[in-house]
Amino acid sequence: MGTRLIIDTDPGVDDAFALALAARSADVDLLGVTTVFGNVDVELTTANARRVLALCDREDVPVAGGAARPLVHPRRTRPSSAHGDDGLSGRSDVLPAPRRPVEPGGAGRLLAGLLEAADEPVTLAPIGPLTNIAALLASRPDLHDRIARVVVMGGAVGGGNATAAAEFNVFSDPEAAHRVLTGGEVPCVLVPMDVTYRCAVTAEWLAGLAASGPVGAALHALVPDYLAHYRKALGADAMVIHDAVAVAEAIAPGLLRTESLPVAVETSAGPARGATVVDRRRSEVRGETEVPVLGGRVDVAVDADPDRLRALLTERLAQP
Ligand code: BDR
Ligand code: CA
Repeated sequence: MGTRLIIDTDPGVDDAFALALAARSADVDLLGVTTVFGNVDVELTTANARRVLALCDREDVPVAGGAARPLVHPRRTRPSSAHGDDGLSGRSDVLPAPRRPVEPGGAGRLLAGLLEAADEPVTLAPIGPLTNIAALLASRPDLHDRIARVVVMGGAVGGGNATAAAEFNVFSDPEAAHRVLTGGEVPCVLVPMDVTYRCAVTAEWLAGLAASGPVGAALHALVPDYLAHYRKALGADAMVIHDAVAVAEAIAPGLLRTESLPVAVETSAGPARGATVVDRRRSEVRGETEVPVLGGRVDVAVDADPDRLRALLTERLAQP
Protein backbone atom coordinates (compact mmCIF):
# COMPACT_ATOMS: atom_id res chain seq x y z
CA MET A 1 0.00 0.00 0.00
CA GLY A 2 1.33 3.47 -0.88
CA THR A 3 1.09 6.79 0.90
CA ARG A 4 -1.74 7.07 3.43
CA LEU A 5 -3.12 10.51 2.79
CA ILE A 6 -5.74 12.97 4.07
CA ILE A 7 -6.33 16.16 2.09
CA ASP A 8 -7.69 19.30 3.77
CA THR A 9 -8.97 21.59 1.04
CA ASP A 10 -11.03 24.59 -0.16
CA PRO A 11 -11.89 23.77 -3.81
CA GLY A 12 -10.95 25.90 -5.70
CA VAL A 13 -9.87 25.10 -9.27
CA ASP A 14 -6.30 24.10 -8.38
CA ASP A 15 -7.65 22.14 -5.38
CA ALA A 16 -9.80 20.18 -7.85
CA PHE A 17 -6.69 19.23 -9.84
CA ALA A 18 -4.92 18.25 -6.61
CA LEU A 19 -7.82 16.12 -5.36
CA ALA A 20 -8.14 14.38 -8.71
CA LEU A 21 -4.39 13.67 -8.74
CA ALA A 22 -4.59 11.87 -5.39
CA ALA A 23 -7.94 10.21 -6.11
CA ARG A 24 -6.65 8.79 -9.40
CA SER A 25 -3.33 7.51 -8.05
CA ALA A 26 -3.39 3.77 -7.46
CA ASP A 27 -0.37 4.02 -5.14
CA VAL A 28 -2.18 6.40 -2.76
CA ASP A 29 -4.51 5.33 0.03
CA LEU A 30 -6.74 8.42 0.17
CA LEU A 31 -8.28 7.97 3.62
CA GLY A 32 -10.45 11.07 3.69
CA VAL A 33 -10.99 14.68 2.66
CA THR A 34 -11.81 17.56 5.00
CA THR A 35 -12.86 21.01 3.89
CA VAL A 36 -12.33 24.56 5.07
CA PHE A 37 -13.41 28.09 4.15
CA GLY A 38 -11.04 29.81 1.71
CA ASN A 39 -11.51 30.21 -2.00
CA VAL A 40 -15.29 30.23 -1.29
CA ASP A 41 -17.41 29.53 1.79
CA VAL A 42 -17.11 26.13 3.42
CA GLU A 43 -20.56 24.95 2.26
CA LEU A 44 -19.40 25.38 -1.34
CA THR A 45 -15.91 23.95 -0.79
CA THR A 46 -17.51 20.86 0.76
CA ALA A 47 -19.91 20.44 -2.16
CA ASN A 48 -17.09 20.94 -4.65
CA ALA A 49 -14.80 18.38 -2.98
CA ARG A 50 -17.61 15.81 -3.08
CA ARG A 51 -18.25 16.54 -6.76
CA VAL A 52 -14.58 16.07 -7.66
CA LEU A 53 -14.52 12.71 -5.88
CA ALA A 54 -17.70 11.71 -7.71
CA LEU A 55 -16.01 12.64 -11.00
CA CYS A 56 -13.10 10.38 -10.11
CA ASP A 57 -15.44 7.56 -9.10
CA ARG A 58 -14.06 7.75 -5.57
CA GLU A 59 -17.12 8.09 -3.39
CA ASP A 60 -15.58 5.45 -1.15
CA VAL A 61 -13.60 8.42 0.30
CA PRO A 62 -15.37 10.16 3.24
CA VAL A 63 -15.70 13.96 3.20
CA ALA A 64 -16.35 16.17 6.24
CA GLY A 65 -16.84 19.92 6.46
CA GLY A 66 -14.61 21.98 8.72
CA ALA A 67 -13.94 25.57 9.75
CA ALA A 68 -16.10 28.38 8.37
CA ARG A 69 -13.76 31.11 9.62
CA PRO A 70 -10.25 31.66 11.02
CA LEU A 71 -9.29 30.57 14.56
CA VAL A 72 -8.86 33.94 16.24
CA HIS A 73 -9.86 36.97 14.21
CA PRO A 74 -12.85 37.51 11.92
CA ARG A 75 -12.30 36.60 8.30
CA ARG A 76 -10.43 39.27 6.34
CA THR A 77 -10.19 37.66 2.94
CA ARG A 78 -13.06 37.78 0.51
CA PRO A 79 -13.80 34.61 -1.40
CA SER A 80 -11.24 34.56 -4.19
CA SER A 81 -12.53 36.01 -7.47
CA ALA A 82 -9.89 33.96 -9.31
CA HIS A 83 -11.96 30.81 -8.79
CA GLY A 84 -15.35 32.26 -9.85
CA ASP A 85 -18.59 32.51 -7.86
CA ASP A 86 -18.87 28.83 -7.00
CA GLY A 87 -15.13 28.14 -6.61
CA LEU A 88 -14.97 26.27 -9.92
CA SER A 89 -15.22 29.08 -12.49
CA GLY A 90 -19.03 28.98 -12.20
CA ARG A 91 -18.90 25.48 -13.74
CA SER A 92 -19.36 23.17 -10.74
CA ASP A 93 -22.46 21.65 -12.33
CA VAL A 94 -20.22 20.15 -15.03
CA LEU A 95 -19.23 17.66 -12.33
CA PRO A 96 -21.52 14.80 -11.27
CA ALA A 97 -23.84 15.34 -8.31
CA PRO A 98 -22.38 13.51 -5.30
CA ARG A 99 -24.32 10.58 -3.88
CA ARG A 100 -22.39 9.93 -0.67
CA PRO A 101 -23.54 12.20 2.19
CA VAL A 102 -21.16 14.36 4.18
CA GLU A 103 -19.75 12.64 7.29
CA PRO A 104 -21.54 13.59 10.50
CA GLY A 105 -19.52 15.32 13.22
CA GLY A 106 -17.36 17.54 11.02
CA ALA A 107 -13.71 17.67 10.00
CA GLY A 108 -12.29 17.40 13.52
CA ARG A 109 -14.05 14.14 14.17
CA LEU A 110 -13.12 12.66 10.78
CA LEU A 111 -9.45 13.65 11.08
CA ALA A 112 -9.17 12.22 14.60
CA GLY A 113 -11.06 9.04 13.71
CA LEU A 114 -8.90 8.34 10.65
CA LEU A 115 -5.67 8.95 12.58
CA GLU A 116 -6.84 6.78 15.49
CA ALA A 117 -7.62 3.94 13.09
CA ALA A 118 -4.43 4.23 11.01
CA ASP A 119 -1.98 1.35 11.35
CA GLU A 120 0.85 3.48 9.93
CA PRO A 121 1.60 7.24 10.09
CA VAL A 122 -0.51 9.34 7.77
CA THR A 123 0.50 12.26 5.52
CA LEU A 124 -1.71 15.35 5.79
CA ALA A 125 -1.89 17.68 2.80
CA PRO A 126 -3.54 20.98 3.73
CA ILE A 127 -4.10 23.01 0.56
CA GLY A 128 -6.28 25.75 2.03
CA PRO A 129 -6.18 27.87 5.21
CA LEU A 130 -4.63 25.87 8.07
CA THR A 131 -7.51 26.27 10.53
CA ASN A 132 -8.63 22.62 10.71
CA ILE A 133 -5.08 21.35 11.11
CA ALA A 134 -4.21 23.83 13.86
CA ALA A 135 -7.38 22.85 15.73
CA LEU A 136 -6.47 19.17 15.39
CA LEU A 137 -2.92 19.69 16.70
CA ALA A 138 -4.21 21.75 19.62
CA SER A 139 -7.01 19.40 20.61
CA ARG A 140 -5.38 15.99 20.06
CA PRO A 141 -1.70 15.98 21.09
CA ASP A 142 -2.02 12.20 21.51
CA LEU A 143 -2.35 11.92 17.72
CA HIS A 144 0.76 13.90 16.73
CA ASP A 145 2.85 10.77 16.34
CA ARG A 146 0.28 9.30 13.95
CA ILE A 147 1.16 12.08 11.47
CA ALA A 148 4.07 11.24 9.15
CA ARG A 149 4.35 14.77 7.79
CA VAL A 150 2.20 17.75 6.92
CA VAL A 151 2.76 18.93 3.34
CA VAL A 152 1.38 22.46 3.22
CA MET A 153 0.63 24.49 0.10
CA GLY A 154 1.16 27.97 1.35
CA GLY A 155 3.46 30.85 2.02
CA ALA A 156 5.80 32.90 -0.07
CA VAL A 157 9.53 33.43 0.17
CA GLY A 158 9.36 36.41 -2.16
CA GLY A 159 6.23 38.52 -2.63
CA GLY A 160 2.71 37.26 -1.93
CA ASN A 161 -0.53 37.02 -3.89
CA ALA A 162 -3.24 37.91 -1.32
CA THR A 163 -1.20 40.98 -0.33
CA ALA A 164 2.21 42.26 -1.34
CA ALA A 165 3.67 40.23 1.53
CA ALA A 166 1.36 37.27 2.08
CA GLU A 167 0.19 34.20 0.22
CA PHE A 168 -3.60 33.51 0.28
CA ASN A 169 -3.72 30.35 2.45
CA VAL A 170 -1.48 31.76 5.18
CA PHE A 171 -3.06 35.21 5.02
CA SER A 172 -6.50 33.60 5.46
CA ASP A 173 -5.53 32.36 8.95
CA PRO A 174 -2.04 33.43 10.06
CA GLU A 175 -2.51 32.26 13.66
CA ALA A 176 -3.36 28.76 12.45
CA ALA A 177 -0.37 28.75 10.10
CA HIS A 178 1.86 29.88 12.98
CA ARG A 179 0.69 26.95 15.13
CA VAL A 180 1.14 24.33 12.41
CA LEU A 181 4.39 25.53 10.85
CA THR A 182 6.29 26.76 13.88
CA GLY A 183 4.81 24.76 16.76
CA GLY A 184 7.39 21.98 16.32
CA GLU A 185 4.69 19.36 16.93
CA VAL A 186 4.78 17.59 13.55
CA PRO A 187 7.27 17.57 10.64
CA CYS A 188 6.17 20.08 8.01
CA VAL A 189 7.01 20.60 4.36
CA LEU A 190 6.09 24.04 3.05
CA VAL A 191 5.40 24.34 -0.68
CA PRO A 192 5.39 28.11 -1.24
CA MET A 193 4.01 29.95 -4.23
CA ASP A 194 7.52 30.74 -5.46
CA VAL A 195 7.88 27.06 -6.41
CA THR A 196 4.30 26.51 -7.59
CA TYR A 197 4.66 29.42 -10.02
CA ARG A 198 7.61 27.62 -11.60
CA CYS A 199 5.30 24.69 -12.37
CA ALA A 200 2.64 26.71 -14.24
CA VAL A 201 0.77 24.84 -16.98
CA THR A 202 0.05 26.38 -20.37
CA ALA A 203 -3.31 26.53 -22.15
CA GLU A 204 -1.80 24.12 -24.67
CA TRP A 205 -0.97 21.59 -21.93
CA LEU A 206 -4.51 21.97 -20.58
CA ALA A 207 -5.95 21.27 -24.04
CA GLY A 208 -3.90 18.06 -24.12
CA LEU A 209 -5.30 17.10 -20.73
CA ALA A 210 -8.86 17.76 -21.97
CA ALA A 211 -8.29 15.35 -24.85
CA SER A 212 -6.89 12.63 -22.57
CA GLY A 213 -10.20 11.33 -21.21
CA PRO A 214 -13.31 12.21 -19.20
CA VAL A 215 -11.53 13.34 -16.01
CA GLY A 216 -9.17 15.59 -17.95
CA ALA A 217 -12.08 16.99 -19.97
CA ALA A 218 -14.11 17.78 -16.83
CA LEU A 219 -11.13 19.43 -15.09
CA HIS A 220 -10.49 21.49 -18.21
CA ALA A 221 -14.11 22.67 -18.13
CA LEU A 222 -13.45 24.20 -14.67
CA VAL A 223 -10.60 26.50 -15.67
CA PRO A 224 -12.00 29.52 -17.61
CA ASP A 225 -12.21 32.11 -14.79
CA TYR A 226 -9.03 30.82 -13.18
CA LEU A 227 -7.09 30.85 -16.44
CA ALA A 228 -8.35 34.39 -17.12
CA HIS A 229 -7.02 35.48 -13.72
CA TYR A 230 -3.60 33.91 -14.32
CA ARG A 231 -3.34 35.37 -17.81
CA LYS A 232 -3.32 38.72 -16.00
CA ALA A 233 -1.06 37.57 -13.16
CA LEU A 234 1.52 35.85 -15.41
CA GLY A 235 1.20 37.83 -18.61
CA ALA A 236 1.09 34.47 -20.40
CA ASP A 237 -1.54 31.97 -21.54
CA ALA A 238 -0.97 29.74 -18.51
CA MET A 239 -2.15 29.13 -14.94
CA VAL A 240 -0.64 27.98 -11.65
CA ILE A 241 -1.94 24.74 -10.14
CA HIS A 242 -0.46 25.47 -6.70
CA ASP A 243 -2.24 22.73 -4.78
CA ALA A 244 -1.47 19.97 -7.26
CA VAL A 245 2.26 20.72 -6.79
CA ALA A 246 1.95 20.18 -3.02
CA VAL A 247 -0.12 17.00 -3.39
CA ALA A 248 2.40 15.68 -5.94
CA GLU A 249 5.12 16.08 -3.29
CA ALA A 250 2.85 14.43 -0.69
CA ILE A 251 2.40 11.33 -2.85
CA ALA A 252 5.88 11.30 -4.43
CA PRO A 253 8.19 12.40 -1.59
CA GLY A 254 11.32 14.07 -2.92
CA LEU A 255 9.68 15.33 -6.11
CA LEU A 256 10.51 18.83 -4.90
CA ARG A 257 13.93 19.86 -3.60
CA THR A 258 13.59 21.03 -0.02
CA GLU A 259 15.87 22.74 2.48
CA SER A 260 15.44 22.78 6.25
CA LEU A 261 15.12 26.50 7.00
CA PRO A 262 13.96 28.72 9.86
CA VAL A 263 10.42 29.95 9.18
CA ALA A 264 8.28 32.42 11.12
CA VAL A 265 4.74 33.59 10.39
CA GLU A 266 3.89 37.27 10.79
CA THR A 267 0.74 37.52 12.92
CA SER A 268 0.72 41.24 13.63
CA ALA A 269 -2.06 43.42 12.23
CA GLY A 270 0.41 45.39 10.10
CA PRO A 271 1.05 45.34 6.37
CA ALA A 272 3.10 42.15 6.55
CA ARG A 273 0.33 40.14 8.28
CA GLY A 274 0.35 36.58 6.95
CA ALA A 275 3.89 36.75 5.55
CA THR A 276 6.07 33.66 5.93
CA VAL A 277 9.52 34.89 6.88
CA VAL A 278 11.95 32.28 5.53
CA ASP A 279 15.61 32.66 6.47
CA ARG A 280 17.55 31.72 3.34
CA ARG A 281 20.86 33.18 4.46
CA ARG A 282 23.80 30.75 4.35
CA SER A 283 23.93 28.82 7.63
CA GLU A 284 27.43 30.17 8.45
CA VAL A 285 26.08 33.71 8.44
CA ARG A 286 22.78 32.81 10.03
CA GLY A 287 24.60 31.18 12.96
CA GLU A 288 26.45 34.40 13.71
CA THR A 289 23.41 36.59 13.73
CA GLU A 290 20.48 34.41 14.71
CA VAL A 291 18.25 35.98 17.31
CA PRO A 292 15.35 34.13 18.91
CA VAL A 293 12.18 34.62 16.89
CA LEU A 294 8.81 32.95 17.24
CA GLY A 295 9.62 30.44 14.53
CA GLY A 296 10.71 26.90 13.85
CA ARG A 297 12.43 24.81 11.21
CA VAL A 298 10.46 23.68 8.22
CA ASP A 299 11.44 21.75 5.09
CA VAL A 300 10.80 24.46 2.52
CA ALA A 301 10.48 23.52 -1.15
CA VAL A 302 13.02 25.62 -3.01
CA ASP A 303 13.10 24.00 -6.43
CA ALA A 304 11.03 21.76 -8.68
CA ASP A 305 11.32 19.88 -11.94
CA PRO A 306 8.25 21.23 -13.78
CA ASP A 307 8.44 18.64 -16.57
CA ARG A 308 8.41 15.77 -14.05
CA LEU A 309 5.49 17.32 -12.23
CA ARG A 310 3.46 17.79 -15.40
CA ALA A 311 4.28 14.25 -16.54
CA LEU A 312 3.03 12.84 -13.23
CA LEU A 313 -0.23 14.77 -13.59
CA THR A 314 -0.78 13.66 -17.16
CA GLU A 315 -0.03 10.04 -16.33
CA ARG A 316 -2.45 9.91 -13.38
CA LEU A 317 -5.28 12.06 -14.74
CA ALA A 318 -5.32 10.49 -18.20
CA GLN A 319 -5.97 6.97 -16.98
CA PRO A 320 -9.18 5.56 -18.47
C1 BDR B 1 -3.57 29.07 -2.78
O1 BDR B 1 -4.67 29.96 -2.66
C2 BDR B 1 -5.81 29.43 -3.27
O2 BDR B 1 -6.46 30.38 -4.05
C3 BDR B 1 -5.36 28.23 -4.06
O3 BDR B 1 -6.35 27.23 -4.07
C4 BDR B 1 -4.11 27.78 -3.38
O4 BDR B 1 -4.39 26.86 -2.34
C5 BDR B 1 -2.49 29.74 -3.62
O5 BDR B 1 -2.06 30.91 -3.02
CA1 CA C 1 -6.55 25.74 -2.14
